[in-house]
Amino acid sequence: MDFNIGCIAGDGIGPEIVREAKKVLTRTGEKFGHSFNFTEILMGGCSIDKFGVPLTDEAIEAAKASDAVLMGSIGGDAATSPWYKLPPEKRPEAGLLGIRKALGLFANLRPSCLYPELKDACPLNKETAEKGFDLLIMRELTGGLYFGERYTREENGEMVAVDTLRYSESEIRRVAHKAFIVAMKRRKKVTSVDKANVLDSSRLWRKVVEEVAKEYPEVELNSMLVDNCAMQLVKDPSQFDVVLTENMFGDILSDEAAQITGSIGMLPSASLAEGTFGLYEPSGGSAPDIAGKGIANPIATILSAAMMLRFSFSLEKEADAIEEAVKKVLSDGIRTGDICAAGCRKVGTEEMGDEISRRV
Ligand code: IPM
Ligand code: MG
Repeated sequence: MDFNIGCIAGDGIGPEIVREAKKVLTRTGEKFGHSFNFTEILMGGCSIDKFGVPLTDEAIEAAKASDAVLMGSIGGDAATSPWYKLPPEKRPEAGLLGIRKALGLFANLRPSCLYPELKDACPLNKETAEKGFDLLIMRELTGGLYFGERYTREENGEMVAVDTLRYSESEIRRVAHKAFIVAMKRRKKVTSVDKANVLDSSRLWRKVVEEVAKEYPEVELNSMLVDNCAMQLVKDPSQFDVVLTENMFGDILSDEAAQITGSIGMLPSASLAEGTFGLYEPSGGSAPDIAGKGIANPIATILSAAMMLRFSFSLEKEADAIEEAVKKVLSDGIRTGDICAAGCRKVGTEEMGDEISRRV
């Protein structure tokens, strides 16, 4: 089959890591008889440099015209990059928030698992690392504090700033369904994370999630307060399968979940719309400090491409082939610098892409 993939290489290490993911996709296409056509789309700092804004209408249209979008990373060093002298709505991150909203990407899947070969990188205590973990954070991505009304103004002689945390039942329901559907294909356990002891939005969240759960009787549902969840993630992450939560909590918890793997360069993510459309990107950032050096780890982006095959194109065995190739590369002791250990062969970005391609 033929698939059209929009590619947002972006800034920093983005272009280097996306290049390797395209290489692996092309190889997978050759092997399984598909053709993947790539269309380059500018977003983030590179779009600011060319058009003065981080996201143009043309970029949104090009993304919408694709079957799915593969993204690298956007943004630069906030302390030194001229992009961060611009007002907030013109900075690279505004492009990312804008495309999430424009494409209706309401469900953000962030898997976090500890590869046995990389156990030594896990910062948790030895027994916890030995047990391992394999969880997935399902983060609501187009509501809550990120998209509620906000303003900063003067009141009674001092500045006041307001951000609004708003959720409707339908916004909660649709992401809850995604969480249960994904859980059905995993270990059938959903932990819904909220702050229902304080927030109205969380009380509604809990009520709606409990309603949705009735449609998935095979899946076990627990609700957990977000502060406790932050603690449980470092105490015993193996207790989690799918963690369902709202936008801001998911932003924070997903960084924590990434850190406990010790190797953020390994973690893919998917942002899904209704239907099969999705945007796929590594969990890590643009890493401006190592951009252009050819040393960035492309594995998270390659695994994001595998998620795209699975979730947007229903190409299960092709996705498996990429994931297996990544595992093989790790067990063969081939590593980029960020995950390298004694006795392993250290390679750069391009060589890692080649080694994975060869194993597909
Ligand atoms: C993420 C990032 C973004 C977010 C930023 C860059 C706006 O932290 O994807 O987690 O907060 O959603
Ligand atoms: Mg974040």
